[in-house]
Amino acid sequence: MFEGKPDTGFLRDQRIDLLQESRFWIRIFKEHSLFIRLGLPCDRLDLISEAQGFFEELSALEDVLMARRNLDSRLVQEIRIAVTDLVEFKERILRMLIQCEIHANMFPLLIDHIRREAVRFLRLLETGRLTSPGRHLLTQLMGTEVFWLRIMKEHIEFIQHLLDPSERVLLRTLEAMRIRFSGALDTARDLRSMSESNPDYFNTVIRFTDEVMELVRQLRDVKAQAYELLLQCRMLSAIPSPLLADHVRREADKFLEDLKVVRQELQRFETPARRPQ
Ligand SMILES: [Fe+2]
Ligand SMILES: [Fe+2]
Repeated sequence: MFEGKPDTGFLRDQRIDLLQESRFWIRIFKEHSLFIRLGLPCDRLDLISEAQGFFEELSALEDVLMARRNLDSRLVQEIRIAVTDLVEFKERILRMLIQCEIHANMFPLLIDHIRREAVRFLRLLETGRLTSPGRHLLTQLMGTEVFWLRIMKEHIEFIQHLLDPSERVLLRTLEAMRIRFSGALDTARDLRSMSESNPDYFNTVIRFTDEVMELVRQLRDVKAQAYELLLQCRMLSAIPSPLLADHVRREADKFLEDLKVVRQELQRFETPARRPQ
């Protein structure tokens, strides 16, 4: 794309649309509260009602966000407080699971996963950007890919563990995807590490990102298909609600959206092909 050195005049404002971002994530967090409620042991009415409380609070917040045309600082503060409280709740549940104080129908890694999603959103809310100035841009862009690839790999693992063992064909498809995502996550971590050397160009990262985009599109379709199968009652599983499949599909679409931004930013690290003299 560029001849010679990257053109810094090309730098665009990377601010994200915080209203859209908040609408997306608050719906996701509302569903997290639902999944926690569904997974808690039925004798822990205190925790169940706490999860239900979060569900109602976040539903109301989602309604407000859908009706608004822009965010003001009061609303941002309200979102921040609600999500911070939810993160603390998730951490408390995770501690109880780790310390065997409750035996719930939820994987500890799932709670850690949804905790990480909320912590990342809080950071985005703070900075308003996918990347923050002053740190190596390339390392941060790779950080976004690492974050999402780990999330995607875990989605596959959770679904694998929730499918009925008789669903052999689906399980084989998922295992093949898990291997590909696991490899992509390792590669993303390697490339992020290499990018700390602050190269001017890194065409391989661009090639890798294009490959990741294709991989995520395929996973997105598998998730959409799983949601349809659950709705039609044509798949055996211990998945507590078909909503879980739709939830992870929406997150794959969000990853694709973020990847588009990452891919655009990466253009400044691209050089034309070099021909041997
Ligand atoms: Fe989620
Ligand atoms: Fe997720």
